[in-house]
Amino acid sequence: MSELLPEKNVQDVRPVLIDSDPGVDDTLAIMLCASDPSVSIKAITAVAGNVSLNHTYENALLLKKLFGLKDTFVSKGAEKPLVLPAGRVTAVHGNDGLGGLSRKTDTPADALPAWERIYQTALQEKGNLEILALGPLTNLALALRYHPDLKDLISQLVIMGGSGSYGNVTSEAEFNSWVDPDACEEVFHSGVPLLLCGLDGLQPAALEFSELDSIISDFDSCGGVTGDFAVPVIRFIRNGRHGWGGYNNVVIYDLAAAVCFLHPEQASYRSVHLSCETDDERTLGKTLISEALSDDLSGILTGMNKEIYVQCIHSMLRHFSGSRILAEN
Ligand code: RIB
Ligand code: CA
Repeated sequence: MSELLPEKNVQDVRPVLIDSDPGVDDTLAIMLCASDPSVSIKAITAVAGNVSLNHTYENALLLKKLFGLKDTFVSKGAEKPLVLPAGRVTAVHGNDGLGGLSRKTDTPADALPAWERIYQTALQEKGNLEILALGPLTNLALALRYHPDLKDLISQLVIMGGSGSYGNVTSEAEFNSWVDPDACEEVFHSGVPLLLCGLDGLQPAALEFSELDSIISDFDSCGGVTGDFAVPVIRFIRNGRHGWGGYNNVVIYDLAAAVCFLHPEQASYRSVHLSCETDDERTLGKTLISEALSDDLSGILTGMNKEIYVQCIHSMLRHFSGSRILAEN
């Protein structure tokens, strides 16, 4: 396979905070970022979404250990949306959020809640912090509410969420937006420069089941975090089928969004004005798109490169092949 990924000058390491509801696809997105020397993961902030906050937080702590993120804070965030009731979850990730692969760790917890960790990290990075948001936007909305100057300290916010057309949890709404549409609305109008990687923009990353089976067989016996953990996660997604972009193929949404975050040169966006439906029960969480206004700093993903996406998956799995982190657990 010809290497399409450009060589990266690791001098320009990008500080990133990942807000997430792990989540099997969140797991692979965080694994990809952890394998990329061009980014430094300053913190992972957990939010309720795919499963309850207790599970997403515990999973984030486990990922810190598995992926060797020694200097990364893991912070506990919102256990319910800003307005709607908690508990709007799907069965797509298994009861523990990791397809049965979760386990407790002795990883130390962060003394700060997620919204304070987001702010402190933004201050520490002096305006260079980038945020990759992979779950409902509750933590970010709270951080922006409590710290009005935060919007000027975030260099870029890349969001896996929303859609320019179809939904996946209802016909109209994508899951992250549907769980907390009010947080979506507040973040969209916060003034933070943002790129929305919606379901339709990520569709080019759809993998046939045969492509997933090839990846699984290529890496199944290589041991380490890849063979002992990541391949079983990919197998769970492959066998889960539903909720991943259709019944003939699979879009690993957060992983595809992470590729767009790490390799923006392979993605295409268009400038838009974004809102989120917060009132109409039938279309709650729907992404409302209109022509960009003069002060808009929002874009929506219109396409990405599948070959680069697949190369990232192979590179990530090679990186963690044979790694002995798992053996310490
Ligand atoms: O709609 C896909 C999104 O919802 C992903 O972030 C997945 O983890 C779920 O949270
Ligand atoms: Ca997610």
